[in-house]
Amino acid sequence: MIKEQNHRILVVEDEESMRAFLEICLTRQGYEVELAGSGTDALDRFSSDGPELDLIVTDLTMPGCSGIEVLRAARRLPSKPSVIMVTAFATTNTAVEAMKLGAYDYLVKPFKTDEFVLVVARALHERALRTENRELKSQLLGIQRLDRLVAKSKKMQRIFDLIRKVAPTRTNILISGESGTGKELVARALHTESDRADSPFLAVNCGAIPSQLIESELFGHVKGAFTGAHADSPGLFRSSQNGTLFLDEIGELDTSVQVKLLRVLQERTVRPVGSSATFEVQCRVVAATNRDLDADIASGTFRRDLFFRLNVVRIELPPLRERPDDIPVLATRFFRLYNEEQGGRLQRITPQGFRRLLAYDYPGNVRELENLIERAVTLCSEHEITEEYFPGGPPPGAAPDNPQKIALALPREGLDIDQELARVERDLIHAALEASEGSRKKTAELLGISLRSLRYRIQKLGMEDSPRAPDR
Ligand SMILES: Nc1ncnc2c1ncn2[C@@H]1O[C@H](COP(=O)(O)OP(=O)(O)OP(=O)(O)O)[C@@H](O)[C@H]1O
Ligand SMILES: [Mg+2]
Repeated sequence: MIKEQNHRILVVEDEESMRAFLEICLTRQGYEVELAGSGTDALDRFSSDGPELDLIVTDLTMPGCSGIEVLRAARRLPSKPSVIMVTAFATTNTAVEAMKLGAYDYLVKPFKTDEFVLVVARALHERALRTENRELKSQLLGIQRLDRLVAKSKKMQRIFDLIRKVAPTRTNILISGESGTGKELVARALHTESDRADSPFLAVNCGAIPSQLIESELFGHVKGAFTGAHADSPGLFRSSQNGTLFLDEIGELDTSVQVKLLRVLQERTVRPVGSSATFEVQCRVVAATNRDLDADIASGTFRRDLFFRLNVVRIELPPLRERPDDIPVLATRFFRLYNEEQGGRLQRITPQGFRRLLAYDYPGNVRELENLIERAVTLCSEHEITEEYFPGGPPPGAAPDNPQKIALALPREGLDIDQELARVERDLIHAALEASEGSRKKTAELLGISLRSLRYRIQKLGMEDSPRAPDR
């Protein structure tokens, strides 16, 4: 089941002869090899858009940025490459430390070619198993992924199906949903799941651009069309040629621009501001709104004809509180993400923590959940995130297991503690008996003691002045 593809390996080594040696060994085995002459070069490679790395072979001691720093940065890469450390005998201890930080193995110089090749093959095999394991696990748990979207709920699975179905078409799509429900991620997924994925995905927030500028932003302009138009501009419709244009917050668009947009969508051509020429539009338009457009249509601020143009297919994202099955999945995902970003100190979110997360109603939806987890990961100084980091608990200062504190005051002249405790005990039993309308069984439950213990205390405290009530 493990895919055998061309593995891509990055060699980080400041010594030129060693770098050349490692390169030859690896290319001979048919691997794709990239070289970095320093730790800093390696970090630059990580932040570039290059193809995914499967493995990194790095020298431990290098001037400037060390192999340990390369390792730390590599652990944060989404492709989770394995890392092999190469070290001189004198630094073996540090290499062992590196293993604790997640390196797959280390090799002490000088080593034989065979030894090196074997360790590389094993590391790649282990990584493939790890990936496969992760995929199987999510299948088993019913977790679905679509681009950067994750979900488990039935509602979201149906949306994933819809996305896959409509992505390859050119139909206009309207995404609606409360703020933070993932509208932008859905728009991106529609793009990556289509055959337009290699063309641009451009997004514009219609609410963030002043109305005088939005027209030229969308449709372009020619030089001199207005003050400040120093050069021709193609506009977003033409710049996203063959790709996807995402019109976010479409409900914020001025009615005058709405008319022009409608014309573009109908005629599939744009005319830049100040130009007499028209250009054909090839992009797919996806719009999003967190407003109630029906209400805007009724009040006359949104054009019904434009709405129908955009709303050919509608993707309605449910608020997070209506799909609680997604909460643990998303929380885990964000926990991994932020924990790794911050050095991987934390082990987990406790079960009580998850319970608290499930009980919350998320007015800010997935974005709020993400922010909660990021904040908890940042603030948590223990090894696990407990429920106190999440909203919905007792007010600050209240003892968690004793919400109703019994008010006690110490008189200046002092007191007899045994007598005082007996009085408190008597009052509490009395109150519990009253609350349970005399049922001793319920009273014992309320007080968290056994029936037998209750009977004993009643006797001891001399509370049994009436004939013994039956133990209902
Ligand atoms: N199903 C999901 N899986 C993973 N991450 C998600 C999911 N849904 C939302 N997110 C994350 O939640 C945050 C908010 O998502 P997004 O920006 O797509 O929401 P939105 O609906 O466009 O919100 P707004 O209306 O406020 O613009 C982002 O950081 C996004 O990565
Ligand atoms: Mg958005």
